[in-house]
Amino acid sequence: MQHFEQLFTSFDPAKAEIAGAATTQRFLSDLRGCFADGNAYDAALSSGNPPIYHVASIEPGCDSGDLHLGIGLVLPGRIGSEYYMTKGHFHSWREAAEVYIGLRGDGVMLLENESNGQCQLLPLQPNRIVYVPGHTAHRTINIGAAPLTYLGIYPAKAGHDYGASAARSFRHVVIERDGRPLMLERSTLLL
Ligand code: F6R
Ligand code: MN
Repeated sequence: MQHFEQLFTSFDPAKAEIAGAATTQRFLSDLRGCFADGNAYDAALSSGNPPIYHVASIEPGCDSGDLHLGIGLVLPGRIGSEYYMTKGHFHSWREAAEVYIGLRGDGVMLLENESNGQCQLLPLQPNRIVYVPGHTAHRTINIGAAPLTYLGIYPAKAGHDYGASAARSFRHVVIERDGRPLMLERSTLLL
């Protein structure tokens, strides 16, 4: 069933707002278990619960051929040396791919293949497109000093699986080292 009033809309690429869209806001407390440095996480949470990111979604239909879209904004910041990022997820319907388009800011996407664990770190910047294949956990990371915004388009029936495999066990983490992002295997971190 389609909501025809959502077939044409406008968005603000700097604020990541879509006219008439529902917005989900994620705070630091929503990302428990995501950041590698648990002590830095607890310390940051004890002095407040800052917003980390939000996503505004448009879901015009839910038939098998329909598409959904979301515009996300990840604030700049770090927990310890790890950049602010999204929880990350697989799609519940694992075959579902997604197209991300960078709008503002300087980011990267961490992709992790479910079957072989292979990871890729791809730039997410204005005028760049990242294709996220099916069966791939994906997380968006702000490596800049300004808000990172992006548009994601995915099958309506994709769904989101935030289970342990995606939200807590990306095998790699992206930290700031000497002012630059560095991807490391989680298991090699000495914390
Ligand atoms: C949809 C999608 C994005 C994310 C958004 C927030 O499939 O990938 O719209 O939902 O970047 O990230 P999560 O969903 O991981 O909290
Ligand atoms: Mn997705």
